[in-house]
Amino acid sequence: MKHAALLSPVRVGAVTLSNRVIMAPLTRSRAGQPGNVPRSLNVEYYRQRASAGLIITEASQISQQGQGYAWTPGMYTDEQQAGWQQVVDAVHRAGGKIALQLWHVGRISHHLLQPEQGQPVAPSALQARDSMSFVVLPDGTPANVPCDVPRELSTAEIAAIVKDYAASARRAKAVGFDLIEVHAANGYLLNQFLATGTNHRQDQYGGSLENRARLLLEVVDAVTAEVGADRIGVRLSPWGTFGDIEDAEPAEMSLYLAQQLNQRGIAYLHFNEPTWADGPAYPIGFREQIRAVFSGVLMYCGGYQADRATALLEQDLADVVAFGRPFIANPDLVARFAQGAPLNTPDVNTFYGGDAAGYTDYPALRAETPTMA
Ligand code: FNR
Repeated sequence: MKHAALLSPVRVGAVTLSNRVIMAPLTRSRAGQPGNVPRSLNVEYYRQRASAGLIITEASQISQQGQGYAWTPGMYTDEQQAGWQQVVDAVHRAGGKIALQLWHVGRISHHLLQPEQGQPVAPSALQARDSMSFVVLPDGTPANVPCDVPRELSTAEIAAIVKDYAASARRAKAVGFDLIEVHAANGYLLNQFLATGTNHRQDQYGGSLENRARLLLEVVDAVTAEVGADRIGVRLSPWGTFGDIEDAEPAEMSLYLAQQLNQRGIAYLHFNEPTWADGPAYPIGFREQIRAVFSGVLMYCGGYQADRATALLEQDLADVVAFGRPFIANPDLVARFAQGAPLNTPDVNTFYGGDAAGYTDYPALRAETPTMA
């Protein structure tokens, strides 16, 4: 068998995965409407990919305020919870494990998506330059639109957001998600608090590195109270610039968070590497430093093929590796890795929105229709 290191089981907190090939969180913008509710098409998509060691779902907003793109699923209404129940049950029946990625977009949004068409919220009232939200215009036309200028959150509102994370985690636990991933990457709300460029606050949530990390740690603690630390992962993207992120201290913040999250005993720490979006490679020694302070499972993602992923495991710098675009196009990615089989090519035109095309119709290995005799 090829890539044996990738195909061996691994314990991630409270959960044992059958292999180390993780499906990365992937927004596909196909939730049922109205209400952003997971529907049967989404159930089929995730069921097809259940041979992944772990599926991490597409980012799912914890509130209407937390939404930045039309048609992404939420986890804050009973209907959404019931929709996710179908997804979780199908993945479990197929022998898989699944984590829900919890999302608040912060300033990467637009008033058309917000409660009462209000301003999006952020640590500071700073607009994301060259950044788009995706909305359905009042005349029904879908459109990419520049993100609005956000307003600064009050401390009372921050406390309410922490409660929203906890409430979504409670719903996730109720439907049987194996793990929760707190999305603190890619320029969304929690990342906006971490980074110096987006957080100009003067209170206990801004200024020092410890203050900028406070909200993420409060969220982790609140989710821990619901599901236990051994069912939580956190996703970070140091050196990432998506969403107009600038940060003076990416290495320092990563190490501080790794230490803090290690003390809390979370199941895994997940790094989305900047290289997949033309960002810089990690500084030499960064992975070793993270390994030294975080004793849970380490996950890396971004531009990996099976060979590079295997090398990272064999160097003992990672425990599992996540694959994004390869899982879009290859529902049976694990079998393909095991056999050294060729991969289908993802079609970028069908990444976001639409129906089954480019979503549930990528062929599995040997899926050809048998010829009639
Ligand atoms: C993403 N990515 C992403 N990341 C995340 O944390 N939550 C999300 O919902 C999404 N959505 C998403 C949609 C699409 C269409 C793409 C291509 C990417 C980032 C993704 O998880 C991963 O980090 C990148 O795709 C890089 O990994 P690959 O594709 O090079 O394996």
